[in-house]
Amino acid sequence: MKRTIKTLALALCATTLFAMCFLPASAAAFADADGDGRILAADARLVLRASVGLSPWTDEMLKSCDIDNDKSLTSADARLILRLSVGFGNDDDSCLHGMDGAELVGLTSKEYKIYKKDGITYIDGILVANKTYSLPSSYDPGDLLPECKQAFMQMAYDAYYNDGIYLEGISGYRSYATQNRIYNNYVAADGKAEADTYSARPGHSEHQSGLALDVNSVEGSFAYTAEAKWIAENCYKYGFILRYPYGKTDKTGYIYEPWHIRYVGIAIATKIHNSGLCLEEYYGITSKYSY
Ligand code: DAL
Ligand code: ZN
Repeated sequence: MKRTIKTLALALCATTLFAMCFLPASAAAFADADGDGRILAADARLVLRASVGLSPWTDEMLKSCDIDNDKSLTSADARLILRLSVGFGNDDDSCLHGMDGAELVGLTSKEYKIYKKDGITYIDGILVANKTYSLPSSYDPGDLLPECKQAFMQMAYDAYYNDGIYLEGISGYRSYATQNRIYNNYVAADGKAEADTYSARPGHSEHQSGLALDVNSVEGSFAYTAEAKWIAENCYKYGFILRYPYGKTDKTGYIYEPWHIRYVGIAIATKIHNSGLCLEEYYGITSKYSY
């Protein structure tokens, strides 16, 4: 059964149009408890609530969400739906290293090699985007990269089932043009100096890399939630680092963002997490605009 579900999840996710479990309309009726065209953890939650009488249980829901076909909605169905929305693992970091043919351009202050390829900077085999190192406007993966998406799905699944923590990606890949619009809106609202403390200029956002996402909420109060604590303590196990930690603004160039996670692969995430350093400190690089 486990293998069947995993295969099904992989097949469904192969048709993903947008990050984090968006499925084409043709597949939507299946396991789509709230009828929004997607299979998400929210559907599993709705089924779980219905199974214990906390939300209405309609015939439509029974038709689409009785996954184990026992003519009732139970926590087993909720569990299977959650697996469909998030459930396959990530044990392959190989896609991270897209730097074949990259040119060695220097060393960081901690003697890590800096490579460049097509205007993209790689350090220790990972893409780096910050105020010092930009991405070309033409760099456009169009979505979260598969390794990042899969790692997040696995993390959300484990968080929910092991610890009752609900994680939802609220902003994943953003194009250069989208970041340009967002940044300029913030500049218009708060002025450039202020905007630069919390929003990346176009070409400098990790969201453009397809390797970063914001989870649950971008409100400052998110820092005090169980979800933020869970992310800070556990995300490295899935290959993510908290990219803009508390107290590191002078190094990262940005205020504390407990919701912004960056995929670097499990090995590097574990080393950075255990070091207690932010990415800039760990590699010995700056994050400062030159303009
Ligand atoms: N909020 C982060 C820094 C970004 O705009 O990419
Ligand atoms: Zn972010």
